[in-house]
Amino acid sequence: MAAATAAAGGASGKAASGPLRLGIVGAARILPAHLRGLKALLDAGLDGIRVAALCARRLEDAVAFRRRGEGPPPRAPVSANPDDPLGAPHLWLSDVHPDTLPAAYDDWRRMLADDVVDAVLVLAPVGLHHRVALDALAAGKHVLIEKPLAVSVAAGRAIAAAAAGRGLVVGVAEVLRYAEATRAARWAVEAGLIGEPQLWVSGGIGNEWSPDRIVADTPWRHRKREAGGGGAIDVGVHLFHLVRHLVGPIAEVSAYVTTMEPERVRRDAAGAVVARVRNEVDDAFFANLRFAGGAIGTTFWSWAGRGEPVAFPGPALYGTAGCLKGDEVVRDDGLRGRAAELFARQAPPARRHALFPGGLRDPFALQLHEFARAIAEGRPMETSAEEGLIDLATAFAVLESATVNRPVAVAEVLDGRVAAYQAEIDAHHGLA
Ligand SMILES: NC(=O)c1ccc[n+]([C@@H]2O[C@H](COP(=O)([O-])OP(=O)(O)OC[C@H]3O[C@@H](n4cnc5c(N)ncnc54)[C@H](O)[C@@H]3O)[C@@H](O)[C@H]2O)c1
Repeated sequence: MAAATAAAGGASGKAASGPLRLGIVGAARILPAHLRGLKALLDAGLDGIRVAALCARRLEDAVAFRRRGEGPPPRAPVSANPDDPLGAPHLWLSDVHPDTLPAAYDDWRRMLADDVVDAVLVLAPVGLHHRVALDALAAGKHVLIEKPLAVSVAAGRAIAAAAAGRGLVVGVAEVLRYAEATRAARWAVEAGLIGEPQLWVSGGIGNEWSPDRIVADTPWRHRKREAGGGGAIDVGVHLFHLVRHLVGPIAEVSAYVTTMEPERVRRDAAGAVVARVRNEVDDAFFANLRFAGGAIGTTFWSWAGRGEPVAFPGPALYGTAGCLKGDEVVRDDGLRGRAAELFARQAPPARRHALFPGGLRDPFALQLHEFARAIAEGRPMETSAEEGLIDLATAFAVLESATVNRPVAVAEVLDGRVAAYQAEIDAHHGLA
């Protein structure tokens, strides 16, 4: 498709009631996981969303997801790991919602101007998140933004500020929050099974992108102005969301960060290098955490690491009465059991139903459902933009701490007093 703006026909007209008309910006590698979630919603009888428009940088990339038999052939999943959402198989929207043919666009402004959607799901590279979100909010659309919320804390603050007072739902797609293991662990902590949180450890070194592969085959992930940071941001927001959700607010971060692999590559099946990307961002961090409630902890992560990966066996949270070790609760009084099983047996049925409507377990389905419910009920989403902004500030606190070589308070990153690492990003995006 030529650089000129183009749209291929489909849904139009404002739905007064009926399903939420969703516009998706980014025919991204993560899109199949969201489409699988939509299909799971439908299969569970929770039918409240239709994809009315799909926008990508190139029109044919959007068309590739529209209708079976139309457009270019599907791309194989970028991850071979079935537990990774990037391993979700290709889906056509015609198979998910045979009753709706989405319009295809190569310009989100045109999609917004055509007024064919009520809400926008932002799956674009991180450096575009705030631009798409700000345009969508200005057009009166609700917005759900893939994590991380934005390319810098200032960009995230701009989104939160634009949302304020508009009566629109702005959420971050922090899928970890909707996972069964997270729900069970949070319930166990809230129910006092391990007492007051005292110590936290989580981490891993190496994964399928280690030691030097272009992560998710997306060169933008290695460019500071497009991604914000490396693993500290891309994975860090997930990790810090989980930590905050289970332990409570993080007051201070002290971190070491490095880039072990200055070049990342793609290899063909025979192992020959077929593409090279200069890696400008971090690929390893070690962060010490001080929590507002008095607990302390450590989180580390790397997608460098030669030899083979090592994963700490799930997070460990120690409290005054026992611990949560991976997915298991172990108490001083002898109680021991998987958090998910204790949750299934002991949590109030109303809570279990509210967290897993229709018995759904697919976290992408659950977060899309929560987005639609929040819009219908006129309330903030559980993973609101404010939550996403705190995750982002905590993740950037890792990079800021390493840059200024001292512990930093999350509050001073959140309000912009500490932004030495991010200054270049903010200047590039006109956010300074
Ligand atoms: N929750 C998770 O586990 C998870 C996993 C992977 C990715 N993600 C997030 O999903 C988002 C996308 O990541 P990805 O790896 O799928 O990216 P990707 O590079 O595969 O896809 C980006 C998409 O954005 C589109 N795009 C780029 N510029 C555009 C423009 N100017 N206008 C319209 N569309 C444009 C591209 O056409 C492409 O379809 C990121 O925010 C990432 O952090 C989340």
